Amino acid sequence: MALRKILTDAEPALHKTCKPVENFDRKLHILLNDMRDTLIESGGVGLAAPQVGILRRVVLVDTGEEILELINPSLVETDGEQTGAEGCLSVPGKYGLVTRPFYAKVRAQDRDGNWYEAEGEELIARCFCHELDHLDGIIYTEIMERYLTDEELAFDE
Ligand code: NI
Repeated sequence: MALRKILTDAEPALHKTCKPVENFDRKLHILLNDMRDTLIESGGVGLAAPQVGILRRVVLVDTGEEILELINPSLVETDGEQTGAEGCLSVPGKYGLVTRPFYAKVRAQDRDGNWYEAEGEELIARCFCHELDHLDGIIYTEIMERYLTDEELAFDE
């Protein structure tokens, strides 16, 4: 088990556009394994490579059933709208009010380079959009309406 340090949004790496993955090699597999360990340890729902300082288009999303490895992902379909609380491992202790599609479908490559599609609603759709934004250097705080107060968060739970 190898954990990587999660960078906060003060780090320049979190604000850069990531490059596509070209080599589906051992180095990528080590990164994915480390990101998986780091995501599980953090208790988060998703993790993007720039959050561990790697400027490549790689994200993990925990659907609750499995941890999806999405390499070179893009949104291919969205539907509806949801407005709710959103957080980020790189913005610890805070939550914002963010509007996202209710449904999202992504197309991505797996760790061996095979293309596949994944879809989800509610939290999973929100997570797809949030993590893909990371690959373009966008943090949710740049698109949120406002931060949520402690009182509002207490009501959410
Ligand atoms: Ni995030």
